[in-house]
Amino acid sequence: MKVLVTGAAGFIGSNLVYHLLESRPSWKITALDLLTYAGNIENIAGLINDRRIEFIKCDIADPATVNELFAEKGFDLVFHLAAESHVDRSIHSAAEFIKTNVVGTQVLLDAALSSKVSRFVHISTDEVYGSLGPTGYFYETTLLDPTSPYAASKAASDLIVLAYFKTHGLETVVTRCTNNYGPYQFPEKLIPLFVTNALEDKPLPLYGDGLNVRSWIYVRDHCEALLCAAEKGVAGEVYNIGGTSDGEVNNRVVTAAILEILKKPETLIKPVKDRPAHDRRYAVDSSKINGIGWKAGILFREGLEKTIKWYVDNRSWWQSIKTGAYLEYYERNYGAR
Ligand code: NAD
Ligand code: TYD
Repeated sequence: MKVLVTGAAGFIGSNLVYHLLESRPSWKITALDLLTYAGNIENIAGLINDRRIEFIKCDIADPATVNELFAEKGFDLVFHLAAESHVDRSIHSAAEFIKTNVVGTQVLLDAALSSKVSRFVHISTDEVYGSLGPTGYFYETTLLDPTSPYAASKAASDLIVLAYFKTHGLETVVTRCTNNYGPYQFPEKLIPLFVTNALEDKPLPLYGDGLNVRSWIYVRDHCEALLCAAEKGVAGEVYNIGGTSDGEVNNRVVTAAILEILKKPETLIKPVKDRPAHDRRYAVDSSKINGIGWKAGILFREGLEKTIKWYVDNRSWWQSIKTGAYLEYYERNYGAR
């Protein structure tokens, strides 16, 4: 089986590459990534001598290079994860989100169609559904109502992917997952940002009242769900992916747990001005993917402890990121709050 993973040097992409090599050892994997600020070749450096994997640096929004690659390799299966993925950055500037998430997805779909890819798994997010009140869940049939430019660009790409199934018969599957956490997550997202700031005794900038709820899933559970959707999902369908029920918690609870595990004081918490259009709550109903044989297995506390240990043990990984352009972004996003 010849498999393409886009965004393979990012957080979920790199975890997926390790998972596929472990669980499907005969597969040949092409790991594609542009290595933007969020992509880090170090994430998959441990595989450099593994002959089952090849790394290609490529922009998914560049049709000439992408078409040539697909024609040459003849992929059977594509896991499409490459994206601009951070809500706060999409608020500062949306252009790259449209280029990569929307145009880049269309370029990949055209290449998949003309090279006769058998299955195209598009990795999306529950953020396309917008925001929930205190109760209820997002279902695959829930109306799309994205609020951030990031979520809107993902919703647009989801619809294009589904249209390629309806119009051209390309075997696509769309997955919509809740918030991931785990090793190799770029320290701009809540959990790795707060863990690394706490390790440096720096303030933890908690947006608004800190009562926004996310439904956290350990990244390895998400990777297992993606493999299940690829192998057992029905073409043209959407599958929600959510974590264990104890992972549905507000940001104050996540922050308190991080500080408790690291034995750091609550005085590090710094309430700051809220994010515009900050979605109040996300939570998905995962029964559809449960029905094809996948279920989240890692409890939030267990996953959080593992994740924190990873950041404690891999200080040089995140310390080398938190320099230069990262600090400029940090000042732009947090300086005036
Ligand atoms: P990430 O930002 O860590 O990784 C994205 C990767 O895509 C990076 O390695 C980056 O270099 C690469 N990339 C960006 N633009 C590219 C381009 N034009 N061409 C090729 N590569 C490019 O993101 P992530 O958290 O690993 O998310 C991966 C996917 O999963 C995204 O599509 C995201 O929308 C989706 N998702 C993420 C979460 C989450 O909680 N992180 C939840 C649900 C869905
Ligand atoms: P984030 O990790 O950016 O994921 P998303 O916005 O895609 O859900 O944020 C998770 C939650 O944490 C969200 O409610 C916003 C909040 N948050 C903060 O309070 N402070 C921060 O510095 C960040 C990055 C997020």
